[in-house]
Amino acid sequence: MGSGRSCNARISEDGSDSYFGYLWSIMSNSKDAVNGYEGRFQDESLTERTTTDEYYDLATDFYLYGWGSSFHFATRFLGESLEDSIVRHEHFLAAKLGLRPGQKVADLGMGVGGPLRSIQKFSNADVTGVTINDYQVRRARKFTKRECSAAMASHIEYKQGDFTKLVPEVFAPESLDAVYYIESSCHIANRTEVFLESAKALKKGGRLFSYEWVMTDRFNPNDPEHLAIKKGIEIGDGIEELVGIRGPLEGLNNSGFRIIEHGDLVDLAEEWYGDYNVPWYFEMAQFYSFSSFRSFALSEFGQRALGTLLWLAGQVGLVPEDASKTEQMLRQASINLVKGGELKIFTPMYYVVAEKI
Ligand SMILES: C[S@@+](CC[C@H](N)C(=O)[O-])C[C@H]1O[C@@H](n2cnc3c(N)ncnc32)[C@H](O)[C@@H]1O
Repeated sequence: MGSGRSCNARISEDGSDSYFGYLWSIMSNSKDAVNGYEGRFQDESLTERTTTDEYYDLATDFYLYGWGSSFHFATRFLGESLEDSIVRHEHFLAAKLGLRPGQKVADLGMGVGGPLRSIQKFSNADVTGVTINDYQVRRARKFTKRECSAAMASHIEYKQGDFTKLVPEVFAPESLDAVYYIESSCHIANRTEVFLESAKALKKGGRLFSYEWVMTDRFNPNDPEHLAIKKGIEIGDGIEELVGIRGPLEGLNNSGFRIIEHGDLVDLAEEWYGDYNVPWYFEMAQFYSFSSFRSFALSEFGQRALGTLLWLAGQVGLVPEDASKTEQMLRQASINLVKGGELKIFTPMYYVVAEKI
């Protein structure tokens, strides 16, 4: 894995699962590696995977606190809670893949497995999650113990691994019926490298779904404001290079897939939901919100409150002083995601459905 070092050796706390538990994990796990992370980001001798693994050592507890166990955006509908929108986004994917009981499926870049458990429950397929970050695997196992029956758990597996090295390290050749990526393939700029591994692991006719983070055709590489937003998203989200829409489409064509359908759900949701469409970045664009804990945590005020708490705890030696820097880095990511969303130069939900030929 990347440099070969164990990035998360210092993360010992597997966390307790409540808002205060997540806060405790943020405070008790070492978050002082942010300077190293930001420095390495510029170091071209390191692989994207090393940067990603380091990033999730820093960010996983913050994501759990702000997002819960599903670390992705969703199309939003007026009156629908954030949690319900997120689950709908997961079921949309499962329906597009046509998942059925007994199928062998891989969730590539699974986070702590929130989407995996929801999709398994929806489909009763056998789902194996893969993430590069060992801390996330430990977290996912803990969630399974707490949330899943023995029957459900018997259809779920988690593995630490690199999704650009799936066969034979993680899966036997041609052993899977379907694979999906939720906002994870974006961590590797060269999508051919990513999708080729899925092609090896899938049976002929097997399906692939991906929610892609890409710069849209409205992005102007000669506009300094657009470039600053792109860089802000990249550094704050552990991504070395965000590519345009053609990146994933060409990656699929080069890897032996036939594209079945694709489109930007940001544009489609405007068409489908009309006046009731709510932008995907809605919570993060609010100065404050008290409609739910999650909405509060994601709002600017909620994020600043956490930053202040960490700064104060750092001043009295309760957490490393740099812990609040991680929060600042993530807040910058959130600011740039909102700007990218408002200008529509960036989307976190360009979806592709493809079939292995
Ligand atoms: C934004 S998170 C999304 C997590 C999950 N799909 C969800 O929606 O909750 C991106 C995930 O991709 C994983 N990831 C990124 N690059 C990877 C790689 N090369 N191999 C395996 N996992 C990777 C990260 O560890 C992280 O779990």
